[in-house]
Amino acid sequence: MVDLILKKRAGLPLSPEEIQFFISGVTSGDIADYQTSALLMAICFRGMTQQEASDLTFAMANSGDTLDLSGVPGVKVDKHSTGGVGDKTTLILAPLVASFGIPVAKMSGRGLGHTGGTIDKLESIPGFNTNLSADTFLSQVRDFHLALAGQTGNLTPADKKLYALRDVTGTVESLPLIASSVMSKKVASGADAIVLDVKFGRGAFMKNVHEARALARLMVDIGNQLGRRTTALLTDMNEPLGYAIGNSLEVLEAIDVLKGTGPRDLSEVSIMLAANMVTLAKPELSIDDAIAACCDKIFTGEAINTFYAWVLRQGGFIDQLPHARIQTPVYAPKEGYVTSIDSSLIGLSSMQIGAGRATKEDVIDYSSGIVLCKKYGEFVKTNEPIAILHSSNPPEQTVLDMVAKAFSFNKVASEEKSLLIHDIIR
Ligand code: URA
Repeated sequence: MVDLILKKRAGLPLSPEEIQFFISGVTSGDIADYQTSALLMAICFRGMTQQEASDLTFAMANSGDTLDLSGVPGVKVDKHSTGGVGDKTTLILAPLVASFGIPVAKMSGRGLGHTGGTIDKLESIPGFNTNLSADTFLSQVRDFHLALAGQTGNLTPADKKLYALRDVTGTVESLPLIASSVMSKKVASGADAIVLDVKFGRGAFMKNVHEARALARLMVDIGNQLGRRTTALLTDMNEPLGYAIGNSLEVLEAIDVLKGTGPRDLSEVSIMLAANMVTLAKPELSIDDAIAACCDKIFTGEAINTFYAWVLRQGGFIDQLPHARIQTPVYAPKEGYVTSIDSSLIGLSSMQIGAGRATKEDVIDYSSGIVLCKKYGEFVKTNEPIAILHSSNPPEQTVLDMVAKAFSFNKVASEEKSLLIHDIIR
């Protein structure tokens, strides 16, 4: 390990064998945390070549259980988002893509901090079981074309250890470490094709489009090098996606999109992600044809029917979604056009009224959250509601203030159009 640390400290690339030695030692516990941390810090400063990042991804993906989907016919597709506020695209695109008969095999996580997790959103549907065994997961992908489950206990144990250390040693923000962490989980989950939604802006990991593009490029290259067809979309997270933030509220909004009556921004991103998944599975289709076909699935009702069938298949009762007891409006402090909505403040506010977790142990109130009344570019009068808080207990004044603070206003409308999808990296 000392040799590896010195080599990386000098800015030299590590060989595949050295990277394998490192990951095997991390997984078995043979390498001390202080040495692992030193190497992580050297990687943060010196970076990694694309080859090293691919070798690291491969070693981490194979550090524990892997899912073998080769027995399921067809191109199995998966999707990953780097995390956003109000991001319920998975709930929409998973049934939408499955309605083409394309197998969607997805493992998702829980939310922490200001961003929500897909598993929590689905578990807000009473009875919905996200704890599928590997056998059930496989057979459901085979005969229903869609299964979504929480990550199994021993998937990428090396990533779990490294992430926990990165979190407390100031080494989270490193492109090769983020890219290999994300892609190792995707590779271990067994899909043949992956669509990545790399978000940037105030509510996202990557604060600007340049960082997001570099991360997307690296993840796409890693995926393709490891034999997975990979595409990435760069999408804006400078305001929450859609109007609803909070678990059962987001399920309701996802249903609206699947019925063709959802908000424009959320519908656009979800359909674009879905269409890219479709073209990875069916390369003979152009992206325009895939977009048109996705819209068709929505307007014929096939997409929403697949959603309802999926909920039933995983044990959920959609008509029993919980609703919050208390609804509290937040009023505009002044008149003007909305020029921005700080996603991270909205995410934090919704966490504080019970919709998210500050620590892993916190229990979620599935019914709580925030519904925005206004979004970017809309005009608002003084004392008109800009958001409604849904909660089980009356919200504290500090939370109401935080929601109001998230909104910025201007007397004149902005000339700038908000561009939602900045680029697609193939
Ligand atoms: N998400 C991950 O899974 N890993 C990272 O390193 C960062 C975000």
